[in-house]
Amino acid sequence: MSQKKKRGKKLVVANWKMNPISVMEARKIFARARRAALGLRNVDTVVCPPAVYLSLFGKSIKKSFALGAQDSFYEVSGSHTSQISPAMLLSLDCSYVILGHSERRAEGETNEIVARKMNIALAQDLRPIVCVGERVRDDDAHYLEELRTQITLSLRGVQKKWLDRIVVAYEPVWAIGATASMDPSEIHGMTIFIKKTLGELFGKKEISGVRVLYGGSVNAENAGHIVREGMVDGLLVGRDSLTPDFSKILESVNRL
Ligand code: PGA
Repeated sequence: MSQKKKRGKKLVVANWKMNPISVMEARKIFARARRAALGLRNVDTVVCPPAVYLSLFGKSIKKSFALGAQDSFYEVSGSHTSQISPAMLLSLDCSYVILGHSERRAEGETNEIVARKMNIALAQDLRPIVCVGERVRDDDAHYLEELRTQITLSLRGVQKKWLDRIVVAYEPVWAIGATASMDPSEIHGMTIFIKKTLGELFGKKEISGVRVLYGGSVNAENAGHIVREGMVDGLLVGRDSLTPDFSKILESVNRL
């Protein structure tokens, strides 16, 4: 048997955040990502534009090129001004939703809210990409406890039968929008820690379908190293998912 164990298809998620500011630009960025993504054999791509643009793109998706939202609410319908229901996302051909991004958590979203959103999104057949990550790294490794708590509380109530649809994005907050990503060898350590924590919560066998991604200053130069040496199942890309470099990121992950 070859030394290198064959790992599954990688998942690359584009988080556009609150960009771009025009429909015309959104169409351009989406078309460029689609061109780059279709035909890649080893990568599944998910593009997560702002919710107002989702209806433009539902018809252009493929099995390996999916649409995701950046948030969804913990109720399916009702008097919740401005909120977006997971059922609405499904009807726009969205299959993924990012939940608990650190930029949402910074605005007051708690682990308990993330868990409520997770449970409703899963019950509605969406695939949640739940973001976790420490704010700072301290020498006493309190950040590991912070991460364990985030994972435990954000996934509270999740049923084992849903686990295959869950994606965990490890995004150390200090590495988001920064000048450099976390070192790939450290990412590897964190991937192991996250899988161990998930295993303790749900059982080692049960979590074999959960994918763990890395996010935080991923770019065309570091993407391949992060996936290879970090042993992650894919990437969550912010800033560079809006630029032509996103195609290079997809290609470099596809080559692994
Ligand atoms: P970044 O963002 O790639 O711009 O660091 C990642 C994220 O916040 O999801």
